[in-house]
Amino acid sequence: MTPLRLGIVTDVHFGPEARHEGRLRKLSAHAEPLLREFVERMNDVDRPDLVVNLGDVVEDESPALDRERYARFTELLGAATAELVHVAGNHDQMHLADGELTALMGLPDGPPWRSFDRGDWHFVVLCTRYVPGRSVHLPPDQIAWLEEDLARTRLDTLVLVHHPLCEMDCRGNRWFERQPHLCRVAERRQVRRVLEESGKVRAVFSGHAHWNHLSVIGGIPYVTLQSLIENLDEDAPGRPARAHAFVELTRGGLRCEIRGEEPCRYRFSW
Ligand SMILES: [Fe+2]
Ligand SMILES: [Fe+2]
Repeated sequence: MTPLRLGIVTDVHFGPEARHEGRLRKLSAHAEPLLREFVERMNDVDRPDLVVNLGDVVEDESPALDRERYARFTELLGAATAELVHVAGNHDQMHLADGELTALMGLPDGPPWRSFDRGDWHFVVLCTRYVPGRSVHLPPDQIAWLEEDLARTRLDTLVLVHHPLCEMDCRGNRWFERQPHLCRVAERRQVRRVLEESGKVRAVFSGHAHWNHLSVIGGIPYVTLQSLIENLDEDAPGRPARAHAFVELTRGGLRCEIRGEEPCRYRFSW
């Protein structure tokens, strides 16, 4: 079995710099140069099979601006020699309907959730839905589809989804400490049961929370990746996290290296 390698980036937030509780938090001015740096590293050093974008490409300014910025993002990420995989984030879906988003992602007609096989692996891409200020969901039709999709495959599976499916303790998280219901998927227990009962899911990768986090629940690792441009300092001028992940999948395990200003390494064997 040849190892399959992935480069992952998330929450690049192309758009204006964003504040939270009066402090500069999203260093969007760094988004383009940091994305270029990521692509160069992928092409010149890591040479992954897939480059994954876990969502929140834009900052939901307006339909026209989001379209323009998303297109700019795919133009820059498109310089990667690896195949691209896009996951829809909540900011991406505010002004862009499913059809427009999948067109920007370079996908044929169809929903933004899907599955595919690469090498000896099955990949599932989910599309969570955000109700502004209220909650995050994986709708019943996608949960039913997920169950059927996992029943059909015989391969080890990786799940890619913008919003975390784990029981993340949001205390200390700048964005979600006071609103964890806007961070985690409301149906996460039900979804995790589907993943666990399939016996095929080896890991779940998410973004959205703007920090690095790891949970292992029911034998499945839930890896949440820090945003590329999150400010690690308390305010301006700021220090971007520059986060990205490099993942190697083999028959017997998974190696995940998280790089940037807060690096860490995870290794799982089965
Ligand atoms: Fe985000
Ligand atoms: Fe998000």
